[in-house]
Amino acid sequence: MKFFIDTANIDEIKKANEMGVICGVTTNPSLIAKEGRNFNEVITEIASIVDGPISGEVKATTTDARGMIEEGRQIASIHPNMVVKIPMTEEGLKAVKVLSSENIKTNVTLIFTATQALLAARAGAAYVSPFLGRLDDISTPGVELVETIAKIFRTHGIKTEIIAASIRNPFHVIECALAGADIATVPYNVIEQMIKHPLTEIGIEKFKKDYSSVFGE
Ligand code: E4P
Repeated sequence: MKFFIDTANIDEIKKANEMGVICGVTTNPSLIAKEGRNFNEVITEIASIVDGPISGEVKATTTDARGMIEEGRQIASIHPNMVVKIPMTEEGLKAVKVLSSENIKTNVTLIFTATQALLAARAGAAYVSPFLGRLDDISTPGVELVETIAKIFRTHGIKTEIIAASIRNPFHVIECALAGADIATVPYNVIEQMIKHPLTEIGIEKFKKDYSSVFGE
């Protein structure tokens, strides 16, 4: 399973990229709004840092296929690594069909059922994003959705990649790796949580102490 970072924050993207753990970035309208910067400007900067798929979502106010197609073409023109993120609606599927026929990669977002994922794949999506955390929030096991989609895609030889999204903690990461997600898109704070373990910290301190007690600082 590969990792993308789920943020539009440049500092976090730089830090994760420097560690070599991520190979792509996902953003959404909320994450872009959080940075309070111009969409094109922030996406261009992200694309100059990470050499991999960068998901940029159509504006939340664009709901018709024509508008999403137009905006999708514009997003794709920002950088060759751009992936156009489209919400899972009837109009969204129409846009995915047209954009994928123009070799523009799409990531169908806000996936909450396996049938939504299957339709998005058939419309030509390069990626589908099931939202694990938001399902858990309503007492529905998000990981089961990832598992079901992975099984269906494997059974039918579907090449669309599964991006496990809405990940809230390291346990989610392990769950979706076991469930067969191709990619997990994780916020920076989850990457930090994945790095740390108290026994690692204690071990480092002990090695330091033992070494300096013999050889000095
Ligand atoms: C990524 O594609 C999604 O937009 C994101 O993971 C949603 O996460 P959230 O449910 O924590 O907002």
